[in-house]
Amino acid sequence: MKTIDSLGDLRGRRVLVRSDFNVPLDGTTITDDGRIRAALPTLKRLVDAGAKVVVMAHLGRPKGEVNPEFSLAPVATRLAELIGQDVTLADDTLGDGAKTAVEAMSDGQIVLLENVRFDARETSKDDAERAAMAADLAELADAFVSDGFGVVHRKQASVYDIAQVLPAAAGTLVIGEVEALSRATDNPERPYVVVLGGSKVSDKLGVIANLLSKADTLLIGGGMAFTFLKAQGHEVGKSLLEEDQLDTVRGYLEEAERRGVKILVPTDVVVAPAFAADAEPTVVGAGEIPADQLGLDNGPETTAAYATEIAAARTVVWNGPMGVFEFDAFASGTRGVAQALSDSDAFTIVGGGDSAAAVRILGFEESTFSHISTGGGASLELLEGKVLPGLSVLEDNA
Ligand code: 3PG
Repeated sequence: MKTIDSLGDLRGRRVLVRSDFNVPLDGTTITDDGRIRAALPTLKRLVDAGAKVVVMAHLGRPKGEVNPEFSLAPVATRLAELIGQDVTLADDTLGDGAKTAVEAMSDGQIVLLENVRFDARETSKDDAERAAMAADLAELADAFVSDGFGVVHRKQASVYDIAQVLPAAAGTLVIGEVEALSRATDNPERPYVVVLGGSKVSDKLGVIANLLSKADTLLIGGGMAFTFLKAQGHEVGKSLLEEDQLDTVRGYLEEAERRGVKILVPTDVVVAPAFAADAEPTVVGAGEIPADQLGLDNGPETTAAYATEIAAARTVVWNGPMGVFEFDAFASGTRGVAQALSDSDAFTIVGGGDSAAAVRILGFEESTFSHISTGGGASLELLEGKVLPGLSVLEDNA
């Protein structure tokens, strides 16, 4: 991939950077600023090189309309605090506000454009519409640095099309992420254990299919575990269930057996009568979920079994929480997996916006993991073995 060095001397030049600042918010309070911190090395480097740094990013899915609820204002404030210099938030994405802000820049300054998804062309399926937006963006800059790893799986104007109209390079975050994830996808040191959680099996189908020929062991948790349990013949009460995926899951279980890949599903779960922080938790066997309760976390026996598998592994990838870790009573399964990865001396990757946030919110020291990915869908798609448009467009021969 082309690196920032390939762009030559950047002093006085306007460099458009795509970052992923899609951070979780509670009102206007950022509850996990990991993605902003992860963007700092590239931004600092460009500032130090004397570039005029024009940053673009999205927040949420505003569907092509200007909506103050999705303004990047909280991000601009936090970025300024973290990087230790002013960050000017443009009044718009590509209008007079953006143009005036960029024209007024001095070397080493940072302007953040408003949410790129306020412009409907950003996510358009129509190549010409995206290209038109990329042409407008290119008016604001002399070079492009792609550093929003979390969006490199999106064929969008600020990720993909812009790289075709300006001299383009990958930022240090994108390069670091690709290097770390490749260590798991290309020839991982074995045993290779993958922990998959999160709510929906349907989000993880591609990755499970691919991992059946790559991983030694899959540990399943989170809401998706109940579709596995049901596929094995258990009743799951009011737990999350994707009936339409049962046959696919049965197929995976059979294929895993044929290939000698171990798939572990919970043997006990924490259930409650409702999805609520103060709902009464009870531990039951995986085959004994009451009809009027729902599973919200892995039980202690499952957590211990998963920790044992992780301790014996040489490569571990974890994507998706094991339960509703945001509620204290249902955080133990996620905490247990995080602890096992943190204690392991294997190569450990935490991927997925939610699991990365869980690690930080539950108070784990980030340095005890080999790599914490900023990508949710992007890291999953890399694990699936897909070619990602935002990466292929940065190849030397692109
Ligand atoms: C993410 O949060 O995974 C990225 O920012 C991509 O967001 P998206 O799924 O809305 O494209």
